[in-house]
Amino acid sequence: MVGMVEKEQAAAAGCVIREAREEDVPRMTEIYNQGILDRQSTLELDPHPVSQERAWFQSHGPLEPILVAEKDGAVIGYAALSRFSQRRCHDHVKDLRIYIAREWRGKGIGSLLLGNLIEVARERGVRKIVLSALPSNEAGLKLYKKFGFRTVGVYKEHGFLNGEWVDVVIMEKLLVRMES
Ligand SMILES: CC(C)(COP(=O)(O)OP(=O)(O)OC[C@H]1O[C@@H](n2cnc3c(N)ncnc32)[C@H](O)[C@@H]1OP(=O)(O)O)[C@@H](O)C(=O)NCCC(=O)NCCS
Repeated sequence: MVGMVEKEQAAAAGCVIREAREEDVPRMTEIYNQGILDRQSTLELDPHPVSQERAWFQSHGPLEPILVAEKDGAVIGYAALSRFSQRRCHDHVKDLRIYIAREWRGKGIGSLLLGNLIEVARERGVRKIVLSALPSNEAGLKLYKKFGFRTVGVYKEHGFLNGEWVDVVIMEKLLVRMES
């Protein structure tokens, strides 16, 4: 598939990283909704219908890659870059979404996906990846720091979740093109 990093680890985990296809959308929606219902990943409150995620999927072009991790023929996680904004000046700035199925978290799948996504994004000319995370999302923050994201700042009391106001951490990673 697309340029792979950490090939050996992917093989060790028995995991295939590949571009997402439209038929993956129902399973990707299921995985995303687990994250919403867990209340630790996003300020989204309500599960998304497949139709909404299908429209989201279809809105992605080559500069907005979506990769899935597949194990024994089943999708167990995905990572995607979406437009940061509709402004043309932001054409090369992308917003990260990464979600692993509950039973597969903490096993290195997020690292495999993000490593591959960054490589694909760099190859396609993405300039920068940005993201928002909840400060309580230890796994997410560790993952992002490991891949060189820096904290831009913290929105204080930016959303109401689980009966309390929560902060949101904003991070970014500039991608430098590798000259061959
Ligand atoms: C956040 C998420 C994508 C990370 O993917 P993952 O496959 O679980 O992460 P990995 O196993 O690759 O581990 C990444 C790092 O986080 C650490 N980590 C993993 N799970 C952890 C946990 N529960 N608590 C603390 N640290 C954890 C790992 O040790 C690893 O760091 P290391 O390589 O320095 O040891 C995944 O847990 C997930 O989908 N969570 C729910 C959805 C979500 O929060 N998405 C991100 C929204 S901002």
